[in-house]
Amino acid sequence: MTKDLLKGKRGIILGALDTNSIAWKVAERAHEQGASFVLSNAPIALRKGDIFELGKATGSEVISADLTQVDEIEHLYQESVEILGGNIDFLLHSVGMSPNVRKGLGYTNLDYNYMMKTLDVSAISLHKLLQTAYKMDIINDWGSVIALSYIAAQRTYSTYSDMAQAKAMLESIARSFGYHYGKKRNVRINTISQSPTITTAGTGVGGFKSFYAYANCMSPLGNASSDDCADYCIMMFSDLTRKVTMQNLYHDGGYSTMGISETLIQSCFTCQGECFDDIAEKERVMGKKDASSETQDK
Ligand code: NAI
Repeated sequence: MTKDLLKGKRGIILGALDTNSIAWKVAERAHEQGASFVLSNAPIALRKGDIFELGKATGSEVISADLTQVDEIEHLYQESVEILGGNIDFLLHSVGMSPNVRKGLGYTNLDYNYMMKTLDVSAISLHKLLQTAYKMDIINDWGSVIALSYIAAQRTYSTYSDMAQAKAMLESIARSFGYHYGKKRNVRINTISQSPTITTAGTGVGGFKSFYAYANCMSPLGNASSDDCADYCIMMFSDLTRKVTMQNLYHDGGYSTMGISETLIQSCFTCQGECFDDIAEKERVMGKKDASSETQDK
């Protein structure tokens, strides 16, 4: 295993909620690779408390910040520079939340106040982070910023709701700010479009089990796990990727390039519908086993 890829680098990791969080794995890996960093999450997530365990394990301070509030971001940056002893080299935005998804409101019945919140938390927060960092000039030359995205930015996933718009905006912000921060300080800004991953945010999306199983069957390498994602983030924070910027980088075992796979065909024709969360939907797609079909089966 390569060592010390991030030796001497300082960063901020946003969005570690519990041990399943992608940001949690990134923090563990960044620690292994020699980085020093501050952990941050929204006040409500800090109340849950798990993040302080991660802080202990990685020797990191935890600072509360709701990323929709610019003054809280300013405070986070001021404190982080103080704690870390200088400006930062990397920043992970691993943050997302849709009140519409949480309340189970489908795409044809969105609440627009909730939608604004979705966009603010899940996308505009990246702009707020970058603009504040740009004005405070707290990212070092050749620094690296990563935000996590999902392929619903490009394609329709029927239950992903307004998070699809949030991810499209997130990727666009990374491209647009990538230009300005590249010119200012050679800072690179990219999004990583990750496979479905079993986390609090992931499993909150309706039909997640189907997303996960479908992508896993479709991808020649299988779904990328959160540990795999952490490895990719570390490489992107390292000096080995200094000329990669303004990209949306698929990290999905090949899924995004596939049309159909043999595994998927076989699974779909032989499965008993275990991947359906919704019984009515399972019966609609798989057919209902009634008395006449059971007679035919015999
Ligand atoms: P997670 O639920 O562990 O992380 C989401 C984080 O966002 C939580 O720590 C939460 O406290 C934080 N957050 C929510 N509102 C906030 C606010 N106002 N201020 C600061 N932080 C706030 O779930 P996961 O999956 O690790 O999510 C991380 C990122 O990965 C998200 O952007 C998600 O959309 C993305 N992603 C996840 C996939 C999955 O299947 N789990 C697939 C592709 C992308």
